[in-house]
Amino acid sequence: MEFVVKSGAAEKQKTACLVVGVHKKTLPDSATAIDSLTGGQLSIVLKQGDLDFKPGHSLILHSAGPFERLLLLSMGDSDVPLSDAQLKKLATNLASALQSVNAREATIAIEEIIVKDQSLRWVTRQLVEAIEYGFYQFNQFKNDTGKGQGVKNARGVKKIILLADRKNADEVKAGLTVGQAIGQGRNIARTLGNLPGNICHPTYLAEEAKNLAKLHTKLTTKVLNEKQMAELGMSSLLSVSAGSDQEARLICMEYKNGKRGAKPLVLLGKGITFDTGGISLKPGANMDEMKFDMCGAASVFGVMNAIIQLDLPINVIGMVAAAENMPSGRASRPGDIVTSMSGKTIEILNTDAEGRLVLCDALTYAERYKPEAVVDIATLTGACVVALGNHTSGLLSNNDELARELLDASNEAMDRAWQLPMGEEYNRQLDSNFADMANIGGPAAGTITAACFLARFAEAYPWAHLDIAGTAWLSGKEKGASGRPVPMLVQFLLNRVS
Ligand code: BES
Ligand code: MN
Ligand code: ZN
Repeated sequence: MEFVVKSGAAEKQKTACLVVGVHKKTLPDSATAIDSLTGGQLSIVLKQGDLDFKPGHSLILHSAGPFERLLLLSMGDSDVPLSDAQLKKLATNLASALQSVNAREATIAIEEIIVKDQSLRWVTRQLVEAIEYGFYQFNQFKNDTGKGQGVKNARGVKKIILLADRKNADEVKAGLTVGQAIGQGRNIARTLGNLPGNICHPTYLAEEAKNLAKLHTKLTTKVLNEKQMAELGMSSLLSVSAGSDQEARLICMEYKNGKRGAKPLVLLGKGITFDTGGISLKPGANMDEMKFDMCGAASVFGVMNAIIQLDLPINVIGMVAAAENMPSGRASRPGDIVTSMSGKTIEILNTDAEGRLVLCDALTYAERYKPEAVVDIATLTGACVVALGNHTSGLLSNNDELARELLDASNEAMDRAWQLPMGEEYNRQLDSNFADMANIGGPAAGTITAACFLARFAEAYPWAHLDIAGTAWLSGKEKGASGRPVPMLVQFLLNRVS
């Protein structure tokens, strides 16, 4: 979406579609001015009651006074500020309303959208994020773009003008910059997630990372192939790709834009480009959704794109552990024992608990960056979906300060996470009769025991783990990658900079 910031009075704008906030009881200033230009038509329409005054509901008036289209956007009963959640709803609804407006551009009087305890900058950013999200389409494999899909493409605004008083223009511009970087980064993550496993395999992800480095001087990409990983002793990671004809890759995108010598933050994404479960084969129903098992990796790509766009003065290493989990005559068997790069041995009791097997070697490898902190992002456990559903990501950490920072970022970005406990009792569930540890901890507290497994490889630095199994994609009619937790992670990095 193209956005511009403009100043001037709402009622004076020459625009194909003017978006104006209204309340049930008192009209905001610009709506009052517009009302009088329409000879009171706006008031009459509002009295007729067709507009539902729940925040975010909208109604379009055509040719009212001098206005080609007036999109009346409800902000509730009276002029009480909106809550964060109401704003999010309003932004989502507005984005969808703008998709059915058959005009090239729309102008939003943004200053009158007031949210309790939030700045205009924050409101702008949320609105821009929602619009980028709402206008996203993934139709590169559809052939009917001239027909059904095409109609959807042709409609909808192409340019949005954010209208604000001159004195507030900088605030709005700042919100716009962040909102666009997050929104677009999120859409990049969605596209990688939505791509099928036959196209988006480990080598594809590695090529994407190399291409990104070609475009930006502050980024360098290094890729380890299977031979190089074998030399480093990454038998755990390689045990996952053993059954696949696709070679595994360990991808490191090094973004250096901070103080020279400043320790980097490492973001590590689980990049299982397809998870069949391996010899511990998953049931057939909905197995297609396991193409989304690289959404952690996709979020790392989204974040790298966003921080490049924002030119954040920080050092970040975006790592991706990419592999495909397949059954075959060469695949790992339940009961196999592997030695990880750290030297710790692992009994693979279930080949479907493969995410931790690729991440553990990557966590050991991350030590060479002497990181300030490491955050891994993984669609790791079905148990997390049971515990937190599809609304909240799981957060587990060996460092309370880091956990707090991530939770604060998640609240500010409205990309929710919730911390789960760890501890010795859970850790003991990983005991194995034959090796240093098993790769599963039994049916109880599956999300926690998975994190306990990872923690054993993350002792050298502050570490946090985000289990995004429930939040990384939507199922059913709206099936598709969500691009989460890009907003939370970008916010985390923004907060680190300031
Ligand atoms: N990728 C899955 C986790 C998953 C399951 C994400 C469903 C989203 C929806 C992961 O590799 C997996 O299979 N985990 C197993 C672990 C178990 C064998 C300990 C699981 O959750 O069933
Ligand atoms: Mn699995
Ligand atoms: Zn998996």
